[in-house]
Amino acid sequence: MLNKALIETAIEAVKERFFGDYTGHDYSHTMRVYEVASAIAAQETADMEIVQLASLLHDVDDYKLFGGAMGGFSYAQSFLRNQQVEEQRIEDICKIISEISFKGSDTIKPGTIEGMIVQDADRLDAIGAVGIARAFSYGAVHQRKMYDKEEKPKLHMNAEEYRKNKGNTINHFYEKLLLLKDMMNTETGKQMALQRHQFMEGFLGEFWDEVEGKR
Ligand code: ADP
Ligand code: NI
Repeated sequence: MLNKALIETAIEAVKERFFGDYTGHDYSHTMRVYEVASAIAAQETADMEIVQLASLLHDVDDYKLFGGAMGGFSYAQSFLRNQQVEEQRIEDICKIISEISFKGSDTIKPGTIEGMIVQDADRLDAIGAVGIARAFSYGAVHQRKMYDKEEKPKLHMNAEEYRKNKGNTINHFYEKLLLLKDMMNTETGKQMALQRHQFMEGFLGEFWDEVEGKR
């Protein structure tokens, strides 16, 4: 039983929460994650309302955007309590929010199918053409260089190292984005990741060829 009014209220809340974001975590990111997560959930046996609420609220407490601890969920929890969502469901949704983020070698696989679906949808939006655009938007807002041939990507960072890392945006592809294809949870997610991954590899090939004067 999907409470459409509740979903609509959550959509309005995220629209306001992400107003003025230029880091690639704006309202349109959340809505793409919501749409893709709903589409994946339709292929699985999953609680659609949990998937939709968790995807709509997955970034509302993100430390990258709002400070605070990694994996926090205070805005999401207050929102859901205000909407009189059952306490057990609030707990389930907040757990998903705390689980899904990329944390280098400390990244975890969510404990529920709903969490796995939201994590896949969030990751799909980090790769492919949209993923490339988001990465450079994030880099610009955070004053990161586009690339630096002298700087090696830092592989195998743990959560703390990943959080503190201020490397250039092209390195972010090697440090995170190219790893996501093999970290997908659902069959649908894996399929969707393939083309997006190939597109990023093509982009990086072209990028380096241009930088090195081969084109
Ligand atoms: P996660 O919770 O897994 O970090 P998000 O939905 O918060 O996922 O989105 C992360 C996105 O933010 C990345 O895919 C990328 O587009 C951008 N991003 C984060 N860190 C960096 C970085 N260091 N350089 C460039 N882009 C970044
Ligand atoms: Ni996200």
